[in-house]
Amino acid sequence: KTEGNLRPQLLVDYIGQEKAKENLKVYIEAAKQRNDALDHVLFYGPPGLGKTTLAGIIANEMGVHLKVTSGPAIEKPGEMAAILNNLQEHDVLFVDEIHRLNRQVEEVLYPAMEDYAIDIMIGKGTSARSIRLELPKFTLVGATTRAGMLTAPLRDRFGVVHHLEYYTENELKTIIIRSAKVLGVEIDEEGAMEMARRSRGTPRLANRLLKRVRDFAQVRYDGKITKEVADFALNLLEVDRYGLDQIDRRILSTIMVQFSGGPVGLDTLAAAIGEDSGTIEDVYEPYLIKNGFLVRTPRGRVAGDFAYEHLGIDRKS
Ligand code: ADE
Repeated sequence: KTEGNLRPQLLVDYIGQEKAKENLKVYIEAAKQRNDALDHVLFYGPPGLGKTTLAGIIANEMGVHLKVTSGPAIEKPGEMAAILNNLQEHDVLFVDEIHRLNRQVEEVLYPAMEDYAIDIMIGKGTSARSIRLELPKFTLVGATTRAGMLTAPLRDRFGVVHHLEYYTENELKTIIIRSAKVLGVEIDEEGAMEMARRSRGTPRLANRLLKRVRDFAQVRYDGKITKEVADFALNLLEVDRYGLDQIDRRILSTIMVQFSGGPVGLDTLAAAIGEDSGTIEDVYEPYLIKNGFLVRTPRGRVAGDFAYEHLGIDRKS
């Protein structure tokens, strides 16, 4: 990925997620002292908040290899068995979108996580038996957008579970200044703060916007990112004052106008705006809910007061 060079390699360079960071620091140090593998770690929360980055840092800090894969990429139990068998002692296996592993593949993980072994069936019918293959002791780092989508047996096998939170504006500002330095682009405090405000609490988005704003700074201005440049570029990119993009705004205006403010069911809403309901739920909603634009009720989604105010739509009562 192109964002790769913007990713911190060590815990001390990682900004934000203080609670996860503080805990991981202790667990990593303790495991290293014991010359042991780190316990299995599960990260959950909206995309773009640093789950993959943290997996890389864990491997780096432990001084082991990182193997990256994802739930949808592994189709057969044998593929999972091969990946596990190829790990070295204390290595980190990162499985992104771990909730999307199919049942049979997931079942390979149970003994692997618990006993560092896999059971392989040989033969068929009455002569079938299983042989146990010992694995190196390893660390599984799983990532998912919603912990509730994991089966209980899988969830229970993670010794460390962390919910990743949206970043504060100040944390994002610090990340943007750090990234600008890595990219070799000049940025002032106000420029960085304006970008932070519009980055939806998400470092991945902040870094992506930084690259686009840099282009405008370079071609339309003198190369330096100021508040004026950030404003100009972000307005063209249709990222608004609160970091909402066109799809965020379409979700809100559809609820307010077409569904009279709601409540409207997720699937009905998804069909109305032509987006995937899972994407709305995992990617768009969490930020809108956190900031009072959207409310989730038992009967469906309702537009929050802040949505009417921000988009300038009158509440019909
Ligand atoms: N780049 C992306 N995420 C980051 C983070 N949390 N800290 C520092 N740099 C980052």
